[in-house]
Amino acid sequence: MSEPMTLIEFILHKQNEFPEATGDLTNLLGAIQLASKHVHRQINRAGLLDILGASGETNIQGEEQQKLDLFANERFKNALKARGHVCAIASEEEEHFIEFEQNEKGTSKYIVAIDPIDGSSNIDVNVPVGTIFSIYRRLSCTSESVVLSDFLQRGRVQVAAGYVIYGTSTMLVYTTGYGVNGFTFDATVGDFFLSHPNIHYPEKPNIFSINEGYTAYFDQGIRQYLDFCKEENSDYGRPYKARYVGSLVADFHRNLLQGGIYLYPGMRTATDGKLRLLYECNPLAFIAEQAGGKATNGHQRTLDVDPRQLHQRTPFFAGPSNMMEQLQEFLR
Ligand code: AHG
Ligand code: MN
Ligand code: MN
Repeated sequence: MSEPMTLIEFILHKQNEFPEATGDLTNLLGAIQLASKHVHRQINRAGLLDILGASGETNIQGEEQQKLDLFANERFKNALKARGHVCAIASEEEEHFIEFEQNEKGTSKYIVAIDPIDGSSNIDVNVPVGTIFSIYRRLSCTSESVVLSDFLQRGRVQVAAGYVIYGTSTMLVYTTGYGVNGFTFDATVGDFFLSHPNIHYPEKPNIFSINEGYTAYFDQGIRQYLDFCKEENSDYGRPYKARYVGSLVADFHRNLLQGGIYLYPGMRTATDGKLRLLYECNPLAFIAEQAGGKATNGHQRTLDVDPRQLHQRTPFFAGPSNMMEQLQEFLR
């Protein structure tokens, strides 16, 4: 039996196809995988360590920070800083972006936006959580400091993006714009191995995922689309299954593997919805497109949205192309 490739072997293998590659991105992804191993270990001992529950702090968005949010934030920050290939990061848990001191060569050319723990409200109840990351090239290379506009780039210019899901197994899924690949963590060996090469959404529509408890706040188009999902029509495989655990990474990942659409619309009570453009929607939109799907805010491709703020929220819809096209009929 041939041994599957490790994540780093796979990245190096891909890198060899690009003679101009310097290896910096490989090292950066190596830092992300390292931090995610620490988070994996902490999550898997969660009931035994004093890591469950609220930290007593709130973040800039007024959300209660969990102890694990802060632990993961520190781990990713430290890992990305230590390798010297990243000049600044923006995190859900930090009000402003953080600039790292340049290494002696001053060549750090990447910036990272990250949601260290996605789905924090699920930590205490043993439901999968995740990490989402988005990598860009720094634009302000000639200026002394990193500037806000380095982070406010459109999602379509992402260099790489991905997520880690801490579920029944821990998996890292990423893209650099040449397809989507998934790696499963073998804790006994301490490494991620290629387990899901070249991921594509299945053809057959199957699942819809939305917090239907908020139906009272949705506009008519969304409500009619939900009626459509639940209507019986065996020719088109309806009714679709409803699945929603409330961790974006887990809901997105299941839909990616099983054929489903994810919806977090704007609402009467929150016109831009809840999810954040830079470190939740853009990275997942990049993956959705690379897996043969689409991602929009209801009227514009997510990756074309011009960001204005670090913690900007946006309505978000992502899924296989055929399901996204059906949805679009109701949003016109
Ligand atoms: P985070 O834990 O990073 O703040 O993200 C929570 C998000 C996302 O994971 C999930 O899809 C969504 O919140 C669930 O929101 P509702 O409880 O409003 O459905
Ligand atoms: Mn999140
Ligand atoms: Mn989070």
